Amino acid sequence: MTKINFGTEINRRNSGSLKWDDADLLYSAKDVLPLWVADTDFPPPAAVLEALQARVAHGVFGYPSPRFLGFEALSEWLKQRHGWETKPEWMVNSPGVCTALAVAVQTLTNPGDKVIIQPPVYPPFFSSVLQNGRTVLENPLIAENGHYRMDFEDLARKASDAKMLILCSPHNPVGRVWGAAELKKLAEIAVTHNLIILSDEIHGDLVYSGHRHIPLASLNPEIESLTLTCVAPSKTFNTAGLYTSAVVIPDKGLRQKFYEAISTLSITKSTVFGSVAMEAAYKHGGPWLDELLPFLAANAAYLAERFSKETPKIEIALPEGTFLAWLDCRELGLGDQALADFFGKEARVGLNNGATFGAQGSGFMRLNFGCTRATLKEAVDRIVGAYRARGF
Ligand SMILES: Cc1ncc(COP(=O)(O)O)c(C=O)c1O
Repeated sequence: MTKINFGTEINRRNSGSLKWDDADLLYSAKDVLPLWVADTDFPPPAAVLEALQARVAHGVFGYPSPRFLGFEALSEWLKQRHGWETKPEWMVNSPGVCTALAVAVQTLTNPGDKVIIQPPVYPPFFSSVLQNGRTVLENPLIAENGHYRMDFEDLARKASDAKMLILCSPHNPVGRVWGAAELKKLAEIAVTHNLIILSDEIHGDLVYSGHRHIPLASLNPEIESLTLTCVAPSKTFNTAGLYTSAVVIPDKGLRQKFYEAISTLSITKSTVFGSVAMEAAYKHGGPWLDELLPFLAANAAYLAERFSKETPKIEIALPEGTFLAWLDCRELGLGDQALADFFGKEARVGLNNGATFGAQGSGFMRLNFGCTRATLKEAVDRIVGAYRARGF
């Protein structure tokens, strides 16, 4: 196998990048090194670039067929990588997972209905519920020495009063890859209470050695019929700017409702480039991903080692999945705004403020280590410098 060099620096400044080009504005500082929004700094697999280049060379970009390129390849990928048997006809295209979350909440719940989420969690889980006039019911994760688990007793109580649960699997930001026993327990509660599950599995391919991502819907036919699973090539292969994802909905009734809603809004479509990239990624991207994962795991280990030696008041637990590290900064004794300013203005490193992931994230920061080692080293050097200057 040819070794892929994830160390090659590609200058993303002035490329219209949200992560790089908006960082200074966002953090009100100069020359901020961005490790925030969840895209990586790597180009996708060569096969994806070649497929896109061939599509550009073709030169005609009329409407793509609704028989979406890529669903066959996705179905095969889910079977090979995750042991989940699906059918391409179960899949509905959505420009992104956030779009799918919002449409599903709008369509499958009624105004005032309660939707359970498990904070600290990806901020659009809150907004997709609240902006649609539904009520958030929090089932907070329980943290024990940096390791998070679900509170099933609380969940069982709240499930009887709710219509839907939005699951983050693997979990952003805490990095948990939910195990079979946990998912079975959750499924049992959902089936008992007829709770629709919106399972956001966008990080499902980014799982480290010793852990395995289990698609919730693959557990048994009962939970399969209640679950809409959101998947995308965007985190795995770094194609977020191509706006192409899929919602896998085995239950015909749920699928029809979802499809009608998303097509009423005329957003079932993708771009010719999005579907070409999706197909190439799922067909040919496996070996590339197998090289990316140890590279990312080594980045996480590097972070953990440097923080434990050089900034002992910032604690980090190694994530089981995702390229996101959840930093416990509570020992620094700063309020949320002061903490954000410390990283953004003093260290000049752009991280996500933990408080945006819910009240449980207060005192935490999220760091995206999907970057070259040189960028990561520079970021840690800056953080260590600011930490020492403060005398923490
Ligand atoms: C859990 C989770 N869901 C969804 C998204 C965004 O998905 P999309 O860009 O497809 O809307 C992200 C991006 O960070 C994420 O972490």
